[in-house]
Amino acid sequence: MKRVLLLFLIFHLHLFAQDTDDSVDFTGVMQVMMTLLTPASNTIWEVDYFATEPYDDQTWQGISVASDQIASALPSLARDNARWMNYLNELQNANNKIRDSVEFKDMVLFLQGYDEIYYPCEDCHTEFLSY
Ligand code: HEC
Repeated sequence: MKRVLLLFLIFHLHLFAQDTDDSVDFTGVMQVMMTLLTPASNTIWEVDYFATEPYDDQTWQGISVASDQIASALPSLARDNARWMNYLNELQNANNKIRDSVEFKDMVLFLQGYDEIYYPCEDCHTEFLSY
């Protein structure tokens, strides 16, 4: 059991060491996370996933603002790192679904974006942060 734990630790230290090789400059990233991505994704994830009635205009308006916030955050997050950019592209693709869902008031498309937008957040944090 102890050996397994040790192997586990070594494996993770190894991953961590790899990550720091092509380090990404985080300057300004935290501010974008806190002022744009976090409030925007909160707005999206607060929408009732199991709503049986069409969303009202206020809900679509909130979704629209959130989608614009995410879109406006993306350029300033661009960095010279392929894996990092891959997560940003995933975020953009998910957000495009959300943006288009507003145009057509398409709840099914919105919920696809709602689901998909979570993974780039989670995966980028897992890969680039040490927690
Ligand atoms: C391309 C990479 C990337 C993506 C995608 C990303 N983040 Fe982050 N996020 C970071 C980095 C890097 C930090 C830490 C910045 C620092 O330490 O200065 C961070 C920090 C945060 C924090 C601060 C708290 C913490 O865990 O340290 C929050 C909250 C956060 N992100 C939310 C989000 C949300 C919500 C999304 C998706 C909508 C998202 N992020 C997508 C890279 C990313």
